[in-house]
Amino acid sequence: MVFSSRNQTLLSKIAASDQHGENSPYFDGWKAYDQDPFHPTENPNGVIQMGLAENQLSPDLIQKWITKNPKSSICTKDGVDKFKDIANFQDYHGLYEFRKAIAKFMGKVRGNRVEFDPDRIVMGGGATGASESLMFCLADPGDGFLVPTPYYPAFDRDLRWRTGAQLVPIICNSSNDFQMTQEALESSYENAIKANIKVKGLIIANPSNPLGTTMDKETLKTLLRFINKKNIHLICDEIYAATVFNTPDFISISEILQEMEQDPTCWINPQLVHIIYSLSKDMGLPGFRVGILYSYNDGVVNSARKMSSFGLISAQTQYFLASILSDEAFVDDFLSENSRRLANRHKVFTQGLEQDGITCLPSNAGLFVWMDLRRLLKEPTFEEEMVLWKLIINDVKLNVSPGSSFHCVEAGWFRVCFANMDDQTVEIALERIHTFVRKGKKNEVGTLKNKKNILMQKNLRLSFSSRLFDEKALMSPMSPHSPFVQSPLVQAKT
Ligand SMILES: Cc1ncc(COP(=O)(O)O)c(C=O)c1O
Repeated sequence: MVFSSRNQTLLSKIAASDQHGENSPYFDGWKAYDQDPFHPTENPNGVIQMGLAENQLSPDLIQKWITKNPKSSICTKDGVDKFKDIANFQDYHGLYEFRKAIAKFMGKVRGNRVEFDPDRIVMGGGATGASESLMFCLADPGDGFLVPTPYYPAFDRDLRWRTGAQLVPIICNSSNDFQMTQEALESSYENAIKANIKVKGLIIANPSNPLGTTMDKETLKTLLRFINKKNIHLICDEIYAATVFNTPDFISISEILQEMEQDPTCWINPQLVHIIYSLSKDMGLPGFRVGILYSYNDGVVNSARKMSSFGLISAQTQYFLASILSDEAFVDDFLSENSRRLANRHKVFTQGLEQDGITCLPSNAGLFVWMDLRRLLKEPTFEEEMVLWKLIINDVKLNVSPGSSFHCVEAGWFRVCFANMDDQTVEIALERIHTFVRKGKKNEVGTLKNKKNILMQKNLRLSFSSRLFDEKALMSPMSPHSPFVQSPLVQAKT
């Protein structure tokens, strides 16, 4: 869709601004996929979507439960008696049964080491809506929130776009597997102060998107001490709390808070701590838009509840979830089977990559891997990262997301999602990567044999095909940078 500059002046500043973050390769990759989506029979040479952090490994378990529990839906013969009540009900406190079931579920996915109070559960339209509501409660336009890099690209949209808050990066790099250090934290804080930014908080995603790693106890303690000392907020996005498939176990900020609360020598003000949660990843229900804000601050709970009118979860969804989440035996089985399937898929995918000499950051969580392609860059620059990324989209036909879109400070890292497809599609994706790497190696050897080109080779770390340096090919109709009508789906996905 094309907006004229005249039209732009008719719009609000927010509507006309480009702060949504849609002009990034992260979203461009989806556009390329939307243009030419892979289908095993109808479009076998299409783009495989590996840029979408969705868990499609376990819907059969939920489907089976639904078949056995027809009363859980108000749209079945068995459940229709409840139709009138639920169709009429809508209140921003939510169904008590729903809040109770969610609170219990949140405790369960944290190993029942901590309890959650149903009265502190506030609803949002996915974690997306819940995070924005929280930001509206905490930040005035211009206020700054520190966030470790690399971070989930849509934080720019969810936390910043409409609220006017600013995100200040805490620089992390591969020298220590992208872990946040105290020095990096302090230095980001100091930089913000120097830039006259009022720092209001710190935001983390634990487990991390895009790294697929979990934070250890010591780091979480350091963060709590830091925010307590500075008297700023800590927002923990724990949307992948149960999407953990390997050791070490996930540790929630709520557990550390509870532990520190019991120790009078290191008391932390709980009013500064807020958790964002959702069922999009852990239950694989992103379409249900079930987002949760859990705050230890009464003021935040009260104002966020009023704001939740703008993004309520439908009463029908609340009713269904209250029913399924209260079935503890089912939830236990689901969580362990889902985690087993994720572990298996992660293993198949990473071992497949390893066969081609491609490594990923060691990970134990999430729906993606953080793939290291630094050695494939001609030079360690973001321009070269873009060249490689376009080649992967255009030639290899895989939509992976470049590290630059996650604000990574080192070029050559890519996030690759592995749980939003079936086994056959993973095999095809791995086969494509295999062909790509083999072709690259063949070219390298072939070129090395040609003495005339030896000098040129010194400058090329790996040359995959002549298309790599063919600008025309990069801007072919397949290119995500070609002008085309944008699919409305692009705005909806995360
Ligand atoms: C870290 C993180 N937070 C929030 C979201 C948004 O989730 P939801 O679909 O519940 O809005 C995502 C989705 O990818 C995510 O990875």
